[in-house]
Amino acid sequence: MKEKKIITTVQVFESIDELPKDAQALMMEAQKIRGKAYAPYSNFLVGAALRLDDNTIVTGSNQENAAYPSGLCAERTAIYYAGSQYPDKKINSMAICVKSPQKVITQPTPPCGSCRQAIAEYEVNQQQPIEIYFMGEKGNVIKAKALLDLLPLAFDASFL
Ligand code: THU
Repeated sequence: MKEKKIITTVQVFESIDELPKDAQALMMEAQKIRGKAYAPYSNFLVGAALRLDDNTIVTGSNQENAAYPSGLCAERTAIYYAGSQYPDKKINSMAICVKSPQKVITQPTPPCGSCRQAIAEYEVNQQQPIEIYFMGEKGNVIKAKALLDLLPLAFDASFL
């Protein structure tokens, strides 16, 4: 038996103000669309914004359903829209933010496992990393230089 260590690196920014201008603008788009979340069951509001390689911005918010598992996260709402509307464009970056009526969330809130898997599909296909920025309502912002940095040992089509 051999042990294999998997190390990942992320960057931590003090706040949205410290981000590069284009990432800051993208996060502001995520904050804007977060206000349109349909989350009457969890009251947990999530916004996601993608920047495509021609600078088109695609956004999405979480969409819940009375049959709970039928709902969809903000990240997948946005990336599936991009994939369906702009199949030939590459995705450069994604910004994600959350908000709760119960408390001010200052912890950067990462995309869930299902969303990481969904984003990985596009990153692997386009052979170019997708930068992922995520934050709570305020406070630190975490940046991963690629989705695969957040999903080591990812499953993809090469295993099929
Ligand atoms: N949610 C997202 O939109 N993105 C995530 O990555 C995690 C969770 C949504 C799903 C549900 O509407 C609410 O947040 C609570 O889980």
